[in-house]
Amino acid sequence: MKKYLVIGNPVDHSLSPQLHNYWIKKNNISAIYDKEELNNNDLKNLILRIKNKQISGANITVPFKKEIISYLDRLSPEAEGTNSVNTVYLENDKIVGHNTDIEGFEFAIKYTKYDIAEKEILILGAGGVVSSIIYALKRMRASKIILSNRTKNKAEDMKILFKNLSIINWGQLPNFDMIINATSVGLKKEDKLNLDFSKIKNKFFYDVIYNPKETNFLKNAKNFGNKTENGKKMFIYQAAASFKMWHGIKPEINEDVNKFLDQ
Ligand code: ATR
Repeated sequence: MKKYLVIGNPVDHSLSPQLHNYWIKKNNISAIYDKEELNNNDLKNLILRIKNKQISGANITVPFKKEIISYLDRLSPEAEGTNSVNTVYLENDKIVGHNTDIEGFEFAIKYTKYDIAEKEILILGAGGVVSSIIYALKRMRASKIILSNRTKNKAEDMKILFKNLSIINWGQLPNFDMIINATSVGLKKEDKLNLDFSKIKNKFFYDVIYNPKETNFLKNAKNFGNKTENGKKMFIYQAAASFKMWHGIKPEINEDVNKFLDQ
């Protein structure tokens, strides 16, 4: 039986096993998807386990999406362009790293029917997922991408990968069409960003967080008359893209899938 894994630290909260195992069963595939909490010095061994086919593929999550790159033989253009890998597999005895977070975000936005083209987007945060979001926004032809992070030099560093980013100070609130919370503020139900959005309406507020389902960021935005969306679809679509790469089958995204992620 083939074995797949999500690795991270921490990884206990990850819903990837539930989702992948649901699709594995639905499609009568003989495989199992597990999770492992690893440390930096386990990464080399993980790659060895993939090379000798003990493991057929792995999803990489926080904090290893960048770290894993030095152990890989080849990167897809998307992984290269974001310096971020969330999906690893073996191809002709070479370990390949790919990034399906980009597709995850892109499909999630398309699902909402919001047209990114010519829009000005403000991103809060500069953590692991942000390079994938910027890559997707550029592919969808956003006219301007503004980045604001509490630690400003982390936002500045993003310019190495993407020219033409506007970097602003944390706390500033410029005009935007769409704002994306990519910080970890909101993971705890009581978390609040110290920014005042009370005068903003008819914009699109997107939160990468999907658990809790509605962060204060989204709750307040909705109350002030804005369109909102959480990160659930992004999570589902990135998983679906990994599944397709490994098993050659496009998995069904149905109500069951939506439901068990809401638990
Ligand atoms: P990753 O491992 O994906 O990089 P991370 O580093 O935990 O995740 O990223 C979390 C993001 O949330 C960062 O942009 C972080 O800002 P800093 O770079 O300044 O640490 C942001 N963040 C976390 N707590 C925050 C807070 N209380 N206020 C504002 N931003 C915060």
